[in-house]
Amino acid sequence: MTTGTPLLSVRDLAVSFPGRNGGAPVRAVQGVSFDLDAGQTLGLVGESGSGKTTTGRAVLQLQAIERGSVHLLGRNLTTSSAAQVRGMRRHMQFVLQNPYSSLHPRMAIASILAEPLQVHRSVPRSAIAARVNELMELVGLDPGTLQRYPHEFSGGQRQRIVIARALAVHPDFVVCDEPVSSLDVRTQAQIVALLQSLQERLGLSYLFIAHDLAIVRHVAHRVAVMFGGHIVEMGDTAAVFERPGHPYTRCLLDSVPVTDPQLQRQRLAQVPLEPDFRAHAGGSGRCVFGHDHQGGPAWHWLGPGHGVSCRYWPPDLARPEPMPDSTA
Ligand SMILES: Nc1ncnc2c1ncn2[C@@H]1O[C@H](COP(=O)(O)OP(=O)(O)OP(=O)(O)O)[C@@H](O)[C@H]1O
Ligand SMILES: [Mg+2]
Repeated sequence: MTTGTPLLSVRDLAVSFPGRNGGAPVRAVQGVSFDLDAGQTLGLVGESGSGKTTTGRAVLQLQAIERGSVHLLGRNLTTSSAAQVRGMRRHMQFVLQNPYSSLHPRMAIASILAEPLQVHRSVPRSAIAARVNELMELVGLDPGTLQRYPHEFSGGQRQRIVIARALAVHPDFVVCDEPVSSLDVRTQAQIVALLQSLQERLGLSYLFIAHDLAIVRHVAHRVAVMFGGHIVEMGDTAAVFERPGHPYTRCLLDSVPVTDPQLQRQRLAQVPLEPDFRAHAGGSGRCVFGHDHQGGPAWHWLGPGHGVSCRYWPPDLARPEPMPDSTA
């Protein structure tokens, strides 16, 4: 980890959505905090509905927040005016899962890539064509295909176009939300390799959201595990994968299929499949680490930069024996 001010600093971020039919509000993101250094990737994992996309959108100021702060390049985005946030957009970009729906079907690639350059006036008009060519080469596409339309490209090529568009304005930070989920395995590997080489060449920082733990393990320097709107564990990738501390992280890692059926049965018997961590959300008092949670941060450090949210630990207070070792 580097010292000094991180590129991105998120503190106590919370987002709620109004409940359906006047029901209780959905607390999609609750008190999320993390830092991201320049040139680094933070992987964000967790089950469907845990709040990953909402976190990414809230960080990018594409989603109204309930509370919290987001500092990018030392600038507090949450207290900035709409015009100031627009000015910061060129520093922060988004790459989404479905490269088809995120490209306008009736725009040629040349126009799709020129648009952000015009909006942000990041290069003079006369230099736009050259920059568009350069972007095509940057993502491994033939500039000779610039007059074609999105449907004339494969899924992998379309995702390259989406990446080129995001990079057009020289961002520092990119949220990649399931950037390869809709692609076949071979194409996934190519796009992941492209994102990694772009990171090295351009010094980009990624918030990398994905279901696929193997991909996250491969690309992320650090990993945050989300459950029910909370980050329940965060640490360097090797630490989280090799020494998962939170029972939910262990469940998540264990849900990767195991080939030995006996071992699989053992694990299923030991690990609650749908542990109700939420039951402890309102808990106060001392956790198993002896931390007093009458207001203090619900976080327990397991090692340098590696911690778990101990308000959720253990998942079943009536059964405080150690959880089975997922590395066994
Ligand atoms: N616009 C919205 N209006 C109402 N509720 C929403 C909205 N967007 C998200 N939610 C709810 O917020 C919670 C978090 O959703 P989010 O999309 O962030 O999850 P996710 O972790 O990205 O899931 P997935 O892995 O399926 O993409 C869910 O309960 C979801 O139903
Ligand atoms: Mg999502």
